[in-house]
Amino acid sequence: MQDFLRDFVLYLSLLHTHTHTHTHTQMSVREGEEAVQPFVVTIGATVPTGFEHTAAEEVNEKIGASARISKDRGRIYFEIRTDNLFKVHHLKSVDNLFVVVQQYDHYQFKDTKEEALLDLQQLAPMLPWVSALEVWKMNNSVKKKRGRRRGAVVPKPKPIGDVTEPKKLQIKPGAPQVEENQEGGSPGQENSHEAGLDPEVEGQEMEPQPLKFRVTCSRAGDKHSFTSNDAARDFGGAVQEFFQWKADMTKFDVEVLLNIHNNEVVVGIALTEESLHRRNITHFGPTTLRSTLAYGMLRLCKPQISDVVVDPMCGSGAIPLEGAIEWSHSFFLSGDNNDMAISRTVNNISHILKRRQDGGSTCPGLPIDTAQWDLCHLPMRSSSVDIIITDMPFGKRMGSKKKNWDLYPSCLREMARVCRPGTGRAVLLTQDKKCFTKALARMGGLWRKSHTVWVNVGGLHAGVFVLRRTGAFFGTTPEDVCEPKKVPESQEEDMEEKD
Ligand SMILES: C[S@@+](CC[C@H](N)C(=O)[O-])C[C@H]1O[C@@H](n2cnc3c(N)ncnc32)[C@H](O)[C@@H]1O
Repeated sequence: MQDFLRDFVLYLSLLHTHTHTHTHTQMSVREGEEAVQPFVVTIGATVPTGFEHTAAEEVNEKIGASARISKDRGRIYFEIRTDNLFKVHHLKSVDNLFVVVQQYDHYQFKDTKEEALLDLQQLAPMLPWVSALEVWKMNNSVKKKRGRRRGAVVPKPKPIGDVTEPKKLQIKPGAPQVEENQEGGSPGQENSHEAGLDPEVEGQEMEPQPLKFRVTCSRAGDKHSFTSNDAARDFGGAVQEFFQWKADMTKFDVEVLLNIHNNEVVVGIALTEESLHRRNITHFGPTTLRSTLAYGMLRLCKPQISDVVVDPMCGSGAIPLEGAIEWSHSFFLSGDNNDMAISRTVNNISHILKRRQDGGSTCPGLPIDTAQWDLCHLPMRSSSVDIIITDMPFGKRMGSKKKNWDLYPSCLREMARVCRPGTGRAVLLTQDKKCFTKALARMGGLWRKSHTVWVNVGGLHAGVFVLRRTGAFFGTTPEDVCEPKKVPESQEEDMEEKD
């Protein structure tokens, strides 16, 4: 309760300093007004499962914060000062971002459904919403600024809240009742200046509109007497009553998140509208990899200045594109045997170049090239590549498990030919772990496994295998002098069955 009051006082002071005449950051105030100090908030991020440590490493590197990895796989949490909030949007490992309203590590759910849901309803008005809503508001202006810099069309904002009449922000017995500051607006309200209003629109009186919201609940654990839908509905109802917001499942301004994992409960407010994993791709293929996962894989192989990095099965190009953007001191080659995949990659590259040009970037281009090829016969000199990184056909949505028994050994062999002995490395993603492990076991003279990162790719349990090229020159080991032995077909089927 003390926290709530503290936040509440802070919120009042924020309302006081926000006016139509200044920008939306906490630090910018009108002359003569007292500067509001930045404060520390907890940010939560969803990341590809298995890459939590990689994401924590990135947070440390870019924000200087040490991230906690949640029990709930695929989430990390870290503290940040609000004047550094913009930095969270530079993170490449994160899918979605949210500001934490409150976190309970040992929440005690009642046994019956009715009691458990009643508790959630009673929780809503007790939460310290104010700082989190203020962060949400700041984040809107950060996103707008980024949008403008990237050359995106920034939509005209709709007025949120009444700018002429004070509006009740909180009306709840027992909770402090607040009147909205006429100039500052409700949490989430954009003043016309910050929101980049059309000058013609500016000055017009705007119709008051309540904020629209939705609650999204994710729940994991087998000891709950309620479903995620039950929790979202009842908690959402209490949020609605408390703030007098309007529920809207599709066109919402605020997305309240209720994450329940066994007895850990985290309430947050989303800072991203859609997952950041789609950031670079406009032309999707049947198995396009999430950019966040591609980024995690790239970090595993640590590209160095002037490294030649090859994705020999690039599909729509998610990996080499992410690499060329983030590791622009290396050179990326992408190829595939499918002409549709190649044209998707080329279109994705062109889109990024155009986006940069439209945003006024003086960046000369991307260090990436694309070719159509068969991975088993790469048009490249032996020992000319530093890193091979690829997402192999799993044999489910792409190719077949049966074909993998031929493809995987041939591909490891050809990759070993082009990869530099001694220093070369490979980071290979596959769900067909058995076939891959068998193929690798037969290539011991050429490849050594360094480690495996287990990840979840669209609900499938997959492995990212990190390999080191041995010092052996290609053509001198028993594995490469002759083609790898083909497994008899009857045996292949047998292995597939047990997979
Ligand atoms: C899992 S998908 C890669 C998806 C990719 N990471 C993306 O983001 O779109 C595997 C790719 O391997 C390609 N492929 C299969 N056999 C190949 C071969 N022999 N040579 C080159 N590419 C091949 C397929 O056409 C497919 O695009």
